[in-house]
Amino acid sequence: MTDAAPLLEAERLSRHYTVASGWFRPPATVRALDGVSFSLYPRRTLAVVGESGCGKSTLARQLTLIETPTGGVLRLLGRDLAQAGERERRAARRQVQMVFQNPYSSLNPRQKIGRILAEPLIVNTDLQRRAREEKVRAMMARVGLRPEHYGRYPHMFSGGQRQRVAIARALMLQPPVVVADEPVSALDVSIQAQVLNLLLELQDEMGVAYVFISHDLGVVRHLADEVLVMYLGRPVEHGPRDALFEHPVHPYTRALLAAMPRLDPAHRLERAPLAGELPSPLDPPSGCAFHTRCPLATSECRQLRPELRPVSGRLVACHHAERIAAA
Ligand SMILES: Nc1ncnc2c1ncn2[C@@H]1O[C@H](COP(=O)(O)OP(=O)(O)O)[C@@H](O)[C@H]1O
Ligand SMILES: [Mg+2]
Repeated sequence: MTDAAPLLEAERLSRHYTVASGWFRPPATVRALDGVSFSLYPRRTLAVVGESGCGKSTLARQLTLIETPTGGVLRLLGRDLAQAGERERRAARRQVQMVFQNPYSSLNPRQKIGRILAEPLIVNTDLQRRAREEKVRAMMARVGLRPEHYGRYPHMFSGGQRQRVAIARALMLQPPVVVADEPVSALDVSIQAQVLNLLLELQDEMGVAYVFISHDLGVVRHLADEVLVMYLGRPVEHGPRDALFEHPVHPYTRALLAAMPRLDPAHRLERAPLAGELPSPLDPPSGCAFHTRCPLATSECRQLRPELRPVSGRLVACHHAERIAAA
């Protein structure tokens, strides 16, 4: 694939939360993230996909060092940061920047765009005012903002422009890794493609690697090199983009794909879309957590949790994976 060293590596990364479960009951544990592993290389995009509540934002908060994982290894540029001290984590934070879903709440409404974009330089560099302004203006041009936007406030922009500002801010320090958590989900469909194309162009120009999070498989199709599908905090299928889109194996991946709108009727899949609700993460089903919604579930699935294993050029956590892949 590539002989460069991975920028970001997760090994069985977990984040559990203790939550109150009501009067006279002991606190319960939510396994929001439960054993996710991957390696992210320069200029690559790892897409993380799954329904709302499956742990995507929790993963993003661990990767961007906003929270400390409760288990596993997180290596950034070769250093293990999962259990590192606060000083080391703070220093590492500039290497992995985040773009949030909502460009309306992630930008300070009282700051002008020029100031919002200068902020990371003020905090992290010794650059003087003039040099900062030069860098800010260069980045604005790069993300498709006009020079006169420099002195405007966030509320004067459309959603798409605001997300351009958020992307510019994330890239100001030229981080090797950007984690984007549903960056286009709040935007009109017509604007989504523009922002996705911008992310691709910036990756080409700057070599940044992305962890791109979305509940929508359709959004990641043209952007992802690798796709990791999660269900209730655990990976269920993980592999190269084309393998997952052309021959999905896990019944959950297949259901997500079937739910995707298709323009080309010749490629429409004859598969049932997802039935039922996501179970409560406080009380996940026994065995394979997907068995309550899976058309192929057997007694084995209700009792025994499947581990990820290599099947047909990707990793799959399903007892029936080999049979599905061979069908
Ligand atoms: N700070 C927290 N305390 C308790 N539970 C949490 C916390 N953050 C997230 N969760 C729970 O973890 C699960 C995953 O949430 P999240 O990572 O936001 O999912 P997603 O981004 O995929 O929608 C949800 O059930 C959510 O309620
Ligand atoms: Mg989320």
